[in-house]
Amino acid sequence: MAIKYVAEPFRIKMVEPIKMLSREEREEKIKKVHYNLFYLEGKDVYIDLLTDSGTNAMSSNQWSALMLGDEAYAGASSYFRLVDAAKDIFAYDYIQPVHQGRAAEKVLFPVLLTKGKFAISNMFFDTTRAHVELAGGRCIDCVVPEAKIPSKRAPFKGNMDVALLEKTILEKGPENVGIVVMTITNNSAGGQPVSMKNMREVAEICKKYHILLDIDAARYAENAYFIKRDEAGYQNKSIKEIVREFFGYADTFTMSAKKDTIVNMGGLIGVRKEDPDLILKIKAACISYEGFYTYGGLNGRDLETLAVGLYEGLNEDFLKYRIGQVEYLASRLDDAGIEYQSPAGGHGVFVDAAKMFPQIPYYEFPGQTLGVELYREAGIRTSEIGSYMLGNDPDTGKQLHADFEFSRLAIPRRVYTQAHMDVIADALIEIKKRAASIKRGYKITWEPPILRHFQAHLEPIK
Ligand code: F0G
Repeated sequence: MAIKYVAEPFRIKMVEPIKMLSREEREEKIKKVHYNLFYLEGKDVYIDLLTDSGTNAMSSNQWSALMLGDEAYAGASSYFRLVDAAKDIFAYDYIQPVHQGRAAEKVLFPVLLTKGKFAISNMFFDTTRAHVELAGGRCIDCVVPEAKIPSKRAPFKGNMDVALLEKTILEKGPENVGIVVMTITNNSAGGQPVSMKNMREVAEICKKYHILLDIDAARYAENAYFIKRDEAGYQNKSIKEIVREFFGYADTFTMSAKKDTIVNMGGLIGVRKEDPDLILKIKAACISYEGFYTYGGLNGRDLETLAVGLYEGLNEDFLKYRIGQVEYLASRLDDAGIEYQSPAGGHGVFVDAAKMFPQIPYYEFPGQTLGVELYREAGIRTSEIGSYMLGNDPDTGKQLHADFEFSRLAIPRRVYTQAHMDVIADALIEIKKRAASIKRGYKITWEPPILRHFQAHLEPIK
């Protein structure tokens, strides 16, 4: 039996019409875009689960704050409001706005990484991996082994394997490791959280070997909610207290504010302790790539909505509804025997496409196959998190074999209702009924050299 849906802690003031095309129309559209869902026009999608990034609904308070935007090139009052809010929440000495998460990576990573250096993470997200590689570095993932078994229900499956981290540092030589990145929640492993205990242990290792510890902080509030709910000793702490403690273990953070901060565009870099040399380098890179450091590629009005969103994202009633909505969808899949990275993650359900299509090998991209089927079935757009996204080895050019083959149902915040969740579950149930008849996956007919999944062309294998 599906669990009870946590009712929305808001009501709806403005609506955006959406429309479902006929099956024939959808069939035509998906063929026309070379079976790459990124090429679909938004109007041709009924439920858009491509991402939870920048697709969230702002509140009436955020829309009002937008009107207060100070568009001064330098020293806008909106900048100071944002910096005050971020310092209040994270207790970091320096806050740098940037236009989104990958801009934070582009500004910070080349400062810390040079050619041949290693970057180690619980798991890198695709753009984060790309920016390490663009800076000349090489990425190593050290996630706990249970993360790689989707059917295994365990808390904090996003954790770093601490023993493996230390072993890897010693193998590569601590002087060759430029940065350790803790991704919260662990997006690539299914939005799985990282425990406070794990963060504390990772921080101790980084301190021991004098390696900078960075938080990839896109979904920091969801992570804090899981800690409050599931980690002993945190039940009576506020989300803000948990966030502060967690961030206190790191040296820097890079954040896409398009997720838990509930804005459509924005990002941040944080430096915990006043470090004039590092801050000077961040400001210099920001001025070159993003714009003057008091706006960092954002409008004054964006800085305002971000300042409000930082607090709204921490609201516990909101987080309870948010995580509850994702868990409701997951429980409907449980009823139907559809496997996913379990327990459900913070920002969505990562359906195990390798289990749905055991007959399709990784190099025929089961996650992409399921994504195309979901569009065919109900106009639902998802993204693939698997071998198709992982791409080719940068040294050998060979297709890499990912640990997972997921179709990610990323749920935008405050956008879809319980009935939409039911449409999604029903579509997956229909696909499961005919899954065995889908014999082959897809092949790539054209691909760009980096971040190929955004632009590649695919073709069904006959
Ligand atoms: N880090 C993580 C963990 C992310 O999930 C993302 C983006 C980024 C960094 C980059 O941030 O998009 O603002 O430049 N993830 C989105 C997603 C795109 O769909 O999961 P960005």
